Amino acid sequence: MSTPGSSGVLPSTHALLAEADRGFAASTARLCDFLRIPSVSTDPAFDAETRRCAEWLVTELRGLGFEAEAAKTIGQPMVVAHHPGVGPDAAKRPRVLYYGHYDVQPADPLELWKSPPFEPVIVEGPRGKRVVARGAVDDKGQVMGIVEALRAWHAVAGGPPCPVTLMIEGEEESGSKSLEPFMHEAKSRLAADVCIVSDTGMWDITTPAITTRLRGLVYMEVTVHGPTRDLHSGMYGGAVPNPINVLARILSELHDGERRVTIPGFYDGVSELPPATKAQWESLGFSDAEFLGDIGLGEGFGERGRSTLERTWSRPTCDVNGIFGGYTGKGAKTVIAAHATAKVSFRLVSRQDPARIAKSFEEFVRSRLPAGCRAEFESHGANSAIEVSESSRYLAAANQGLHDVFGKAPLLIGTGGSIPAVGSIQRILGMDSLLVGFGLDDDCVHSPNEKFELECYRNAIRSHAAILGELAKLQR
Ligand code: BES
Ligand code: MN
Ligand code: MN
Repeated sequence: MSTPGSSGVLPSTHALLAEADRGFAASTARLCDFLRIPSVSTDPAFDAETRRCAEWLVTELRGLGFEAEAAKTIGQPMVVAHHPGVGPDAAKRPRVLYYGHYDVQPADPLELWKSPPFEPVIVEGPRGKRVVARGAVDDKGQVMGIVEALRAWHAVAGGPPCPVTLMIEGEEESGSKSLEPFMHEAKSRLAADVCIVSDTGMWDITTPAITTRLRGLVYMEVTVHGPTRDLHSGMYGGAVPNPINVLARILSELHDGERRVTIPGFYDGVSELPPATKAQWESLGFSDAEFLGDIGLGEGFGERGRSTLERTWSRPTCDVNGIFGGYTGKGAKTVIAAHATAKVSFRLVSRQDPARIAKSFEEFVRSRLPAGCRAEFESHGANSAIEVSESSRYLAAANQGLHDVFGKAPLLIGTGGSIPAVGSIQRILGMDSLLVGFGLDDDCVHSPNEKFELECYRNAIRSHAAILGELAKLQR
């Protein structure tokens, strides 16, 4: 077996994939250990566990020869690790930065889980075995895809063939408030030529994908205040503004009959798809029946005249995520509540300006309030949409690595989800990311019974191992 240390010759992809497979049972056991730590970043009750999770990852990376730490931030710890690469040629090869997150969404509603969310189980599904736990695919399984690929390199070659840095954050699911400050401060440590992000999906279980567009996100909370206290709905009803009625009416005015968003200027900066992209998407053979059937729906619903892929990958949205106020207990209570609240999110595309959209939404609500009501707003984040290059030599390398593993080239796809870090990495560190992910649409991300197919996990490990080998063939 060749080692890059002595000769600069890279090990064969075959040797790496064989090593990944040899260690797969142990890789799965380690993923389960990782999943057992409830790193729910948004809830301070889990802060100690979230820290323990970061430290667990640090220990794993140190075991692979990385210099690693759980760096202190203004929020949850940031896991950063570095390996200079093995052998004299490593320094001539591209420096690779990996990004992922070790935090997870809250597990609730707990009663809908078939097994406890932080007690991972391996169960048989229609496509083989899968691991079920909160974070299985988003994003612990995918982070472990990277770690275990680095383990295969460690076993076969003594370490990675290129300089490798990892930045695994602990607050992706809760606003990433430490990320940008950390990146500014650690800019020189994070310097690299290409970033690989593993937090997205495949096309289907046999077809890999590289995601090149992500939607942005503006998340607002609005509270409408009316009378100074809750009122008897008979004594006062009909004579006073009811904040819940008012809020419901305003929310209902956010879309028109074509299901377009009615906020003035909302579509500013939204570009139509280039015909070539549209044609490529049409050639993908996306199945509405499968995508919608999986969630119990027969047909799509959204902006008139658009396909499901266009609606989720290239069109902006407005959705109410939660709404509360008044009496929500059992039985009836005749009351007019003093307040009503809604959580409203906008997914953004192209060059829509998040700050302007937040402001226009506020004006939209305020201008519709009757006398006697006022509105209060809280922002829970604002990020623009992101597009990454579809033609770089790094993408070509990833293409080759995925081809070696799956026997076919990856599809270039979009996603409706958001990964704000990709924009920060572009702006602050000055590089595009390669979004190579291994999730499937039915993985139940953010839902009860989240799962990761072991077949996807295995291919994630193999793919990251192969892609790193392809990147190492490039000169810096
Ligand atoms: N991994 C997801 C993003 C994602 C979801 C990519 C589905 C591809 C397919 C990420 O962890 C996430 O959930 N992002 C949030 C945004 C964040 C600001 C809370 C999202 O998209 O809602
Ligand atoms: Mn994620
Ligand atoms: Mn997520």
